[in-house]
Amino acid sequence: MKVRLLGTAAGGGFPQWNCACAMCAVAGSPSVPARTQDCLAVSPQGTDWYLVNASPDIRAQVLDAPPLAPGPGPRDTPLRGALLTDAELDHTLGLMSLRELRGLSVWAPPAVLHALGSRFPIRDLVAHYGDWRWQPATAFPVLDVSVLAVSDKRPKYARDSTVDGPWVVAYRLADPVTGGSLVYAPCLATWPACFDEFVDGASCVLLDGTFFAAGEMAGTGTSSAAQRAMGHVPIEGPDGSLRRIREHAASGTRWMYTHLNNTNPLLDHDSPEYRAVRDAGVEVPLDGTSMDL
Ligand code: MLT
Ligand code: MN
Ligand code: ZN
Repeated sequence: MKVRLLGTAAGGGFPQWNCACAMCAVAGSPSVPARTQDCLAVSPQGTDWYLVNASPDIRAQVLDAPPLAPGPGPRDTPLRGALLTDAELDHTLGLMSLRELRGLSVWAPPAVLHALGSRFPIRDLVAHYGDWRWQPATAFPVLDVSVLAVSDKRPKYARDSTVDGPWVVAYRLADPVTGGSLVYAPCLATWPACFDEFVDGASCVLLDGTFFAAGEMAGTGTSSAAQRAMGHVPIEGPDGSLRRIREHAASGTRWMYTHLNNTNPLLDHDSPEYRAVRDAGVEVPLDGTSMDL
């Protein structure tokens, strides 16, 4: 299985267009690389590619990714579909930018399919542009897919929806030929029950690295409680993800943080937080990182 990280920042990207914080001000310098919004592409053999989430930056991300280049026919593309972990705007808005495809297959949890046909009626909108097909994630036809319900955190635009979850899931994609497997979990409100079992033996785990610390958004006027309500477990602390990752140290799994918010000190490779995470053996990959699993 081939994997390409198209984007590694949380919603808003890094730098965020309306942010003048100290970190965004230096984004793009050698030790503080800019990042586009979280999105992944996977391919069983390197010919047919599937997006996992569709970020608002998808156009630039595709143009930056040689394996996703169009051809050989004038309107051919190796893009075959998109698998969604949730209905958040930073993971779905890119679908609108793919309308030139004149149709695409999308797989997602039922609550997400529902939201995209009601609160955020993207299914109705793209139907005017082509033949889009919407299916449950469990029907994803390539690689072996396992789905783990992660949380019922709804997007802001569907906050009061009464539709049953799960609203957020994690995927484990396994290549039956190579035996390689990838867990993709960019939105973890807490370390889910069964997550240790879900990641057991995986070649690589791409994990929610939105926030380093629980109170990190204080500088933007967001309280710790409001930050917690955003549904992203912090990296540090007794309930943080790094402590849980350390328990897997002997497993041989590659661990990586993605979906970094523009408040996260890991964005700065000279920060003590970045050093601590790298010393723990966890990677903080950049946009464009490719893997063969
Ligand atoms: C999130 O990851 O919490 C959401 O994408 C936030 C947002 O951009 O609305
Ligand atoms: Mn997000
Ligand atoms: Zn900023």
